[in-house]
Amino acid sequence: MAATEIENTRKILSEVTYPGSTKDIISLGMVGNLQTEGTKISFRLLFRKSEDPFTLTIKKKCEALLKEKTAYTDIHIEIVFVQDLERPLSLEKVTHIVAISSGKGGVGKSTVVANLAVALALDGYKVGLVDADIFGPSIPKMFGVQGERAYMMKEDDKEYIVPIEKYGVKLLSMGFFVDDASATVWRGPMASNALKQLLEQGYWGELDYLLLDLPPGTSDIHLTLVQTVALTGAVIVTTPQQVALADARKGINMFESPGVNVPILGLVENMAWFTPAELPDKKYYLFGRDGGKKLAEEKGLRLLGQLPIVQSVCEAGDAGQPIVADTHSVIGEAFMNLARNVEQSVAEVSTISKRVKVH
Ligand SMILES: Nc1ncnc2c1ncn2[C@@H]1O[C@H](COP(=O)(O)OP(=O)(O)OP(=O)(O)O)[C@@H](O)[C@H]1O
Ligand SMILES: [Mg+2]
Repeated sequence: MAATEIENTRKILSEVTYPGSTKDIISLGMVGNLQTEGTKISFRLLFRKSEDPFTLTIKKKCEALLKEKTAYTDIHIEIVFVQDLERPLSLEKVTHIVAISSGKGGVGKSTVVANLAVALALDGYKVGLVDADIFGPSIPKMFGVQGERAYMMKEDDKEYIVPIEKYGVKLLSMGFFVDDASATVWRGPMASNALKQLLEQGYWGELDYLLLDLPPGTSDIHLTLVQTVALTGAVIVTTPQQVALADARKGINMFESPGVNVPILGLVENMAWFTPAELPDKKYYLFGRDGGKKLAEEKGLRLLGQLPIVQSVCEAGDAGQPIVADTHSVIGEAFMNLARNVEQSVAEVSTISKRVKVH
């Protein structure tokens, strides 16, 4: 892009002032990562505070002005909050942070995260996993490392928590510090702090993916997370039953709300059907048919996968070996496909919103 094009566009955008102030958005340093290509223009609008009431007003003003005074027809403006851009040292070499969330509990979120993490590692990526379910950590058991304790180390005068590595995945969980019983009595702020600490003090090093197994619902923890790190996106797990779908919808709305603004990478429909071993051609839709698929269609989201109910998934989880580690199983293949779809979604989201450099 020619420098004059940037300059011209910046000049035009400098006509937009911050409501109630005489200052314009260019001199306030609110426009970042300005890029043009043919009739396409994209940039980020940076806000200091997530509760800024003028995010949409300013965005609309920019769009109107560009339509009026330039030939760009394809205008992409992303609203970004500055607090999201500052990464703690421990996460500097982490490329993508992906949260896995569900509205309802017990839909198989931890199972999906565990298998997704191992699948990504099998695909050659460097992978970390934070069990953000402070109240009921289940990742240690699913990886067969329950009872292990994480230890601290010092580097350049800073203290780090060293993750426990299993199946090529670096793991941190509150389960490595306390037993379940004492975690359940923690109150919201304490739990949020614990999660922050796992993220910011984890000795993560270089990672392609850091996955976060969030607790069910839309709690303090979710908001803390969004305010602590810049998430690449969120994956929503649901089962096809109505109550789970209703809660999944709440989760989607939370991530998409303006103050949160986390891209949704797609939806996973778990427990989509059951096929008995003796009737391999039959599919029994125990919780209703295609509920997750339909929700994805309705919301315009990618369906990352439909996973059947398979006894070995449950048994493998209980035995501490995620089923995908057994690469010959059919369900293992389904998890590998799921991982490839997540990789694709992440790649798409990342090209739209490249890491910000303020011009
Ligand atoms: N596709 C599946 N087939 C068979 N069993 C499954 C499947 N997915 C999950 N399960 C089993 O269902 C139970 C709940 O799964 P999991 O713990 O992953 O759910 P969760 O959403 O993380 O729950 P919580 O809300 O408690 O964190 C586990 O026993 C798990 O092994
Ligand atoms: Mg769980």
